[in-house]
Amino acid sequence: MILSKFVASGALLLAAQSSIATVEQSELRDTLDVLYVQDKVSSITDSDLTIREDLGETWLNGSKEYELEVVKDIINQLGKLQLGTYVVDDSPALITNISEEITSGRQDYYILRDAHPKAHQCVNASFTVEDNNFFPDGFLGEGNIQHDAIVRFSSSNPSPDSDAVNGVRGAAVKVLMGDQTHDFVMQTHPNFPTDNVEQFSNLIKLGRTQNCLSIVPDPDNQSPWGPLFDFTYQLSKATQCLVQSDFNIFDLPETVGSIMRFQEGFEESPIKSAFDFDYFSVTPYAYKDIVFKYEVSPAICNEPNSENKSFNPSEANDTDGLEKNIQRVLGAGSACFDLNVVARPTDLSDKDAIESLITTWDEKSSHVLERVKVASIVVPQLVQGFEISPVACDEMRNNNGRVADGFKPLGSVSRGRIPIYDRLSAFRLEANEHLRNMNK
Ligand code: HEM
Repeated sequence: MILSKFVASGALLLAAQSSIATVEQSELRDTLDVLYVQDKVSSITDSDLTIREDLGETWLNGSKEYELEVVKDIINQLGKLQLGTYVVDDSPALITNISEEITSGRQDYYILRDAHPKAHQCVNASFTVEDNNFFPDGFLGEGNIQHDAIVRFSSSNPSPDSDAVNGVRGAAVKVLMGDQTHDFVMQTHPNFPTDNVEQFSNLIKLGRTQNCLSIVPDPDNQSPWGPLFDFTYQLSKATQCLVQSDFNIFDLPETVGSIMRFQEGFEESPIKSAFDFDYFSVTPYAYKDIVFKYEVSPAICNEPNSENKSFNPSEANDTDGLEKNIQRVLGAGSACFDLNVVARPTDLSDKDAIESLITTWDEKSSHVLERVKVASIVVPQLVQGFEISPVACDEMRNNNGRVADGFKPLGSVSRGRIPIYDRLSAFRLEANEHLRNMNK
């Protein structure tokens, strides 16, 4: 079930699979694909991926070209997915209701993020660098320097569903430092279901296969061959769907493992306030030669907030409980977090430390890993008239590769995400603009 959720990830336009897509909708999807997805795929060049071999990074399958192809493939697949053309491009079962949504004026944009589409709220914040000995040369500035920041709280559930169901939550902190910006992109689950971009791509392809199987209708079986007919029909359908998804059957065992980890991530995520979670970078980073991961954890504010930050029973059962909780808590005062870093454990191989995400450093290392606080984040009381609008929040572009000088995201997933987020966020902004203009 979670797999089908995954398949739908970002396919917010797959609203009515059983309906017949209109020619107009299908043409619109094709136009948007050609104009805004394919140009992003072809814009990927050699310079989009770099590694620091001295810090233990290695190319997927030992080849930069190979890794670039996988990244292009993911952009193509996820871009199409966001257009609602996820499984079989010509399938009449795949409908987008773009034109209906847009022409009805119910909203002035349609294409949301492929991942973490539901923003609970974007809030202004302050980010204060703390004196620390982890980064002796400073970290986003000298100790005690304060920057403005914006936090986007989100849910990774594929469609903007109810907050009363389990789901991995996200927080992206955009630190504004004059003409430089540093984004911290985090989620509440410390592991990732795949170690590298290829395994992630296989996860998408298997999802496509499963979705394909569920939408190709079975004929009424009037054949005298009975069960044999069913068997051959199912076999040909499975083969057709596998071919269409471009999934290599030999990758099946590994990909089933990824699916199970994906599912565990959802199931293990409790339903609670955005102020009660720890948020993890999941992937490693380097600052100069120091390799680390970061985490954001709830902290006590200097100025106490009289509101209880945790969910009350009505928030816990509300479709928009996370947003209502943020409004209630920040309506009364501030909420605070610490930004902590953890150093690469000395007993892990480069592969385990840099190119592997399905288990955390804490799980892999035989040492107890120390956390060092390097910054404080304060989300102040909301001021009426200064809120960040939902559209501005959706149009924000966060990227784990948008970092201050000297920083470098490490590992296949992390370096692959940089061009993927860059191109797909550009795609959704451009395609939404196109849709808005169509309506004028
Ligand atoms: C190959 C692996 C991954 C792919 C293909 C991927 C893909 C994406 C895409 C396409 C977006 C939307 C970008 C946009 O339109 O602005 C996104 C957002 C996001 N992803 Fe990932 N992602 C990957 C790994 C991760 C990991 C490891 C984390 C863990 C921290 C993560 C956390 C998030 C969060 C929190 C957001 C929302 C950011 C925001 O609020 O703007 N993703 N991801």
